[in-house]
Amino acid sequence: MLGRKVPAVTFRTRVRDESVGGSNPFRWQDVTSDDYFAGKRVVLFSLPGAFTPTCSTYQLPDFEKLTSEFRALGIDEIYCVSVNDAFVMNAWGKSQGLENVKLIPDGSGEFTRKMGMLVAKDNLGFGMRSWRYAAVVNNGVVEQWFEEEGYSDNCDSDPYGVSSPQNILAALKSKKLAA
Ligand code: BEZ
Repeated sequence: MLGRKVPAVTFRTRVRDESVGGSNPFRWQDVTSDDYFAGKRVVLFSLPGAFTPTCSTYQLPDFEKLTSEFRALGIDEIYCVSVNDAFVMNAWGKSQGLENVKLIPDGSGEFTRKMGMLVAKDNLGFGMRSWRYAAVVNNGVVEQWFEEEGYSDNCDSDPYGVSSPQNILAALKSKKLAA
C-alpha cells in the first residue's frame, strides 16, 4: 500500500441538522475520499467492528486520548473507518464521547475492499469486515502502513499491536528524528 492513493469512494454519513426538526434531526450527507483526505496528513485506522471489545476499550479511546501527541507530530486528523453503517458509527461515537477522532462509516465495505483489507468474519456472524490496519495518509497517498499480521478470512484470533496508537506514535517520532 505504501505510495498508493486511497480509493475514491463516497461515504454515506448521517449528520445532525436542526432544520430537519422532530426528535431525531439527522439527514444523509455524502462525503467523498477527497473530502476526508485531500490536503491533509491524517492517521487512518480500521477495525473489525463498532462496539467490539478491543476497539472500544483500547484502540479508539487511546487514539482519542493521544490526539494532541499526533497533532504535535504533524497529523491534522485521526479517522477510524469500519464496515458499519452511519447509524451504528454515530451511536458508537456518542457512546465513546468522541471529540477528536472522526468516524467513517464504510457500511457497504467498498472502501475497505478497494484497500485490499476486506475479510470474512462469518465465524463470528459478522459477514465481511475489515482486517485491522492503520496508515499515515498524506494528501490521499499512503505514507506509512501498519497492518496486523495474519490477514485471513475467519481468523480465530484478533491480532492487535502494530495498528495501536502507541506503535504509530513511536513510528512517527522515529521518522521525525531521522528527518
Ligand atoms: C474486539 O475488538 O475485541 C473484537 C473484534 C472483533 C471480533 C471480536 C472481538
